[in-house]
Amino acid sequence: KLVYVLNGPNLNRLGKREPGIYGSQTLEDIAGLLVGRGQTLGCEIEMRQSNHEGLLVDWLHEAEDKGAHAVLLNAGAYTHSSVALLDAIRAIAVPVIEVHLSNPHAREPFRHKSWVGQAAKGTIAGFGAQSYLLALEAAAAL
Ligand code: DQA
Repeated sequence: KLVYVLNGPNLNRLGKREPGIYGSQTLEDIAGLLVGRGQTLGCEIEMRQSNHEGLLVDWLHEAEDKGAHAVLLNAGAYTHSSVALLDAIRAIAVPVIEVHLSNPHAREPFRHKSWVGQAAKGTIAGFGAQSYLLALEAAAAL
């Protein structure tokens, strides 16, 4: 089962970016955890990160073209602004699971709205790096 894990803006800074909120693990650390758990679950991990909204749209389309089983998407701040990502998720048949390290609902009001969540199969948020592993478990079981 091919699982795309798409990460949006500023997540390349993970580990040194607001560690009190996002933890000290880097995106590479999380990729390693996912690959390890993926071996147990029979999932091949395709991990990507971009600060550019349109590239995330392209990768969602690509996930379908490559026959992905599921997509885990942490769209970062684009979660709260991007109608283009909402439309891209609706444009593909592949189930997309929304992932966040922090719990946006426990933070500033502008993080309470998620465009991504309106098209996602489900959302896992608030468990730090563990959110990604929980989402992978959910993806594998779909
Ligand atoms: C985030 C939450 C977003 O509100 C924020 O803009 C991020 C990270 C998270 O993983 O907790 O960049 O998606």
